[in-house]
Amino acid sequence: MSAGFLLSFEGSEGCGKSTQIALLRARLEAAGRSVVVLREPGGTELGESIRHLLQHAKEGASMTSETELLLFAASRAQLVREKIRPLLEAGTFIILDRFLDSTTVYQGVARGLSLESVRAINHFAIGGTLPHLTLVLDMDSATARSRIHQTGRELDRIESQPQAFFEKVRQGYLDVALQEPGRVKIIDASATPEAVHESIWQIITAQSHAV
Ligand code: TMP
Repeated sequence: MSAGFLLSFEGSEGCGKSTQIALLRARLEAAGRSVVVLREPGGTELGESIRHLLQHAKEGASMTSETELLLFAASRAQLVREKIRPLLEAGTFIILDRFLDSTTVYQGVARGLSLESVRAINHFAIGGTLPHLTLVLDMDSATARSRIHQTGRELDRIESQPQAFFEKVRQGYLDVALQEPGRVKIIDASATPEAVHESIWQIITAQSHAV
């Protein structure tokens, strides 16, 4: 049986995360890996209810940044224990559509909450279950924003933040990668989807027990 692998994808809205996750999943499955994709917030029944509160519920309009941080952490604590740990033990390749670095960057850097508190709460939620590898899809925030607007759909509570918020998100991710260069890799997401996928595949196959 293959060893389990925990990969998280990060990046601002509009960076092409969903496309890259779908391409990677297909290629891993073709290579014989058992793959599960989980999203955050969400990924469990309880987590999906928390997601609704965070993104679309009308009660969310008055949500404080502190509450937002704790709700993301609550969804994560459930996901780690209900899904991630059992799947890793079963040898699954897990692809996470966002994980703890989203909280560091969105609630810590962009919302401006204490980075020390965010670190402690993240640590409590994951209880040592860190990704083996994290890929940040990096793109200039104006291009990423225009891609979101092109979809024509209604923006959720966080997507409706001003451009300056997403500038901070981008810089926050670049800083996380500088602080943890072993785990966190930056991918230039401005290339074609195929070229971005090839860069990702090279990084994955260089990991000793990924494929
Ligand atoms: P998405 O995964 O569909 O992009 O939606 C998740 C949204 O929630 C996105 O705007 C980023 C935000 N988010 C945080 O602010 N903190 C977190 O910890 C996570 C997981 C997501």
